Amino acid sequence: MNQTILLHEISKLKSKQAQWEPFAWYKEMRENSPVFYDDEQDAWNVFLYDHVKRVLFDHQLFSNKKERSLIPVPRVDNRSNVNFCDPPEHRKRRAILAHAFTPRSLEEWKPRIQAIVDELISDIDSETTVDIVQKLAVSLPVTVIAELLGVPSKDREQIKYWSDILFYPYAKETYDDIAEQKERAMKEFYEYLYPIVLEKRKHPQDDILSDLTKAELEGERLTDEEVVRSGIGLLGAGNETTTMLISNMFYSMLFDQPGIYQELRTDLTSVPKLVEEVLRFRFPVAMDRKVAQDTTVFGHKMKKGQMVIAWVGAANRDESQFAHAEDFDIHRRNNQQHLTFGSGPHFCLGAPLARMEANIALTAFVKRFADIQPVEGFEVTGHLTDSATGQSLKSLPIRLEKA
Ligand code: HEM
Repeated sequence: MNQTILLHEISKLKSKQAQWEPFAWYKEMRENSPVFYDDEQDAWNVFLYDHVKRVLFDHQLFSNKKERSLIPVPRVDNRSNVNFCDPPEHRKRRAILAHAFTPRSLEEWKPRIQAIVDELISDIDSETTVDIVQKLAVSLPVTVIAELLGVPSKDREQIKYWSDILFYPYAKETYDDIAEQKERAMKEFYEYLYPIVLEKRKHPQDDILSDLTKAELEGERLTDEEVVRSGIGLLGAGNETTTMLISNMFYSMLFDQPGIYQELRTDLTSVPKLVEEVLRFRFPVAMDRKVAQDTTVFGHKMKKGQMVIAWVGAANRDESQFAHAEDFDIHRRNNQQHLTFGSGPHFCLGAPLARMEANIALTAFVKRFADIQPVEGFEVTGHLTDSATGQSLKSLPIRLEKA
């Protein structure tokens, strides 16, 4: 039977505040228990950079064919699901999606993403205080992915609603209730997308869903159901994570390094550096695999079938990889080596898209506004919401000063 494991139960990070700032706990684990066995969950937890990277990379020892997982989305196994499988099978499935994310496709999308950003920025242009999460960080990724897939962008609120439920974390006390909500959202999402896919098959257009109706796996076209499932996967995968990135960029500029905004104003080439450092510094994500065979690794005996949790957010602050890892420094040379997009065969397919969205959005914003400031009396605790990866910002009010 498939089972979803609750991240907060494993981490013992109980309060919202602790989940938003898990970095002291990460440090404690790196220093005192870098390879930690949780017998309640029968799960190994690893926190060091080299270990996390190995777990993600070494699919022969750490398999993605797993029954238990942290992934909160109801699982549907089919030939187009890139999760829950290993190479060589995974390579074939990934190839179907990969051609949508080539550098050439991205270049073609750039003007469309720029136009969406320009519209969102012009909507906040006359404001003096704005909730940057709702006005930019939430709206941008869902509008972009809806448009690229070829789904009407007027439906974006509905799509966001479904993907929020699918990625919503489980809680022990309300597990069954949440599971039912997820099943319902999955069914509604499916019924919404199905007729759109049938239409794309008849009249293909220049979008990813149309491409998927033409894609082949081992000489056979994907079925309508497989195209719909891939679409749901992509609509979900790119939303919450990219929203977190954009929200966190603003949080870091206000609170991790106040004043950095002026450096971006004078030198726009610093924008991508800031994006990368936010991905390293402020992204409390963890990923899981299953031990594929009895083995001794990282100085411990692990048994076939046990779960391994790779704490990416902890690896990203490992001093042996990043000097002064607890400092926010956009100029660090190796900040692209963070593991926030994963590593190895399952490395995030949407990473170039997420980076592009964040860079275009921040560049346009910096050009338009002379300065940003926190609102008076801002306390982060009241602005946090549960998310699959940990706590995220549900709102972040900021004061804007026009250029
Ligand atoms: C896989 C993170 C944005 C599509 C992954 C993985 C991570 C990740 C860590 C690897 C999971 C694993 O190894 O188990 C992120 C972050 C994002 C982001 C932090 C934004 C800041 C996107 C976007 C899309 C996307 C915008 C596309 C619309 C995918 C897909 C996979 C994936 C399809 C599965 C790849 C595979 O299994 O081969 N992502 N992602 N992601 N991501 Fe992203």
